[in-house]
Amino acid sequence: MSSAPRIPVPATPPEDVRVPMTLPKLEEMKRLGQPIAMVTAYDYPSAQVAEEAGVDIVLVGDSGAMTVLGYDSTVPVGMEEMLMLAAAVRRGLRTPLLVGDMPFGSYEASNEQAVANAQRFIKEAGCDAVKLERGGASVDRARAIIRAGIPVMGHVGLTPQTATALGGYKAQGRTGDRASQIAEDAFALQAVGCFSIVFEAVPAAVCEAIMPRMEIPVIGIGAGGTTDGQVLVFHDLLAINTGHVARFVKRYAAIHEAMVAGVGEYVADVRARRFPDETHEYSIDPAELAAFEEYLEQDSLAGESAWDW
Ligand code: KIV
Repeated sequence: MSSAPRIPVPATPPEDVRVPMTLPKLEEMKRLGQPIAMVTAYDYPSAQVAEEAGVDIVLVGDSGAMTVLGYDSTVPVGMEEMLMLAAAVRRGLRTPLLVGDMPFGSYEASNEQAVANAQRFIKEAGCDAVKLERGGASVDRARAIIRAGIPVMGHVGLTPQTATALGGYKAQGRTGDRASQIAEDAFALQAVGCFSIVFEAVPAAVCEAIMPRMEIPVIGIGAGGTTDGQVLVFHDLLAINTGHVARFVKRYAAIHEAMVAGVGEYVADVRARRFPDETHEYSIDPAELAAFEEYLEQDSLAGESAWDW
């Protein structure tokens, strides 16, 4: 038997005593080494699940383009669609920090465009912060949005909005040069004031080497266990969708299977007239029913159309 010391797992406080997540609270979690749990959500029920489960940060990810809107990448999703998803999530959340993911094409053109669209996430959808992808010009955009008073989360490593340029949906930073580029991007985003940063699909050892220089909370997805927190896509972790599963995904439920089984059972019940039964019916006072039946039996009703053609 192993004699390794057990790390105490902080309990999720009951819902009624939970207080809204703030940026200082996230900093404190990093300082205390308390892991940060982040998940994506795209609608009211998934937000309610995140709330009840005690998640710290909810991201309305542009992954919603694929998970709930059926696009084959994150590239086509637009601001109006993202705002609609984010506003629905807002209505289902009380305590987690809500981050809106700026879609491809909503921030690249200029700092003015980036600030205007970031403001829409805050004002129209009720988000607390926004996220954008990549280093390079995105560092300027992040700086401009932060100067406009909106907290920004960065995102480096595999950045799906530019997956084609990165050679597809695959791990990044697997050469010394590419790892250095990821580190440089992360440091630049940290320097302009991002409150947190996502590292996606980066070798665990590369992430571990960068971590001592990161002063802001780093949230990993496929970046190993040394980050300050983890994020998974809601539909991946619950297996709501079928198809390819990235190496970094762990399934915590099999919801697609359960949903198909449930709907299949309903279809079978309808076909066999097992549903509905009397427990699903509304009643009527027998005297009222008799009066109604008398009305139906009037000769004057026979064949009479309600319409005067
Ligand atoms: O869009 C998304 O879901 C994301 C997470 C994977 C971080 O960007």
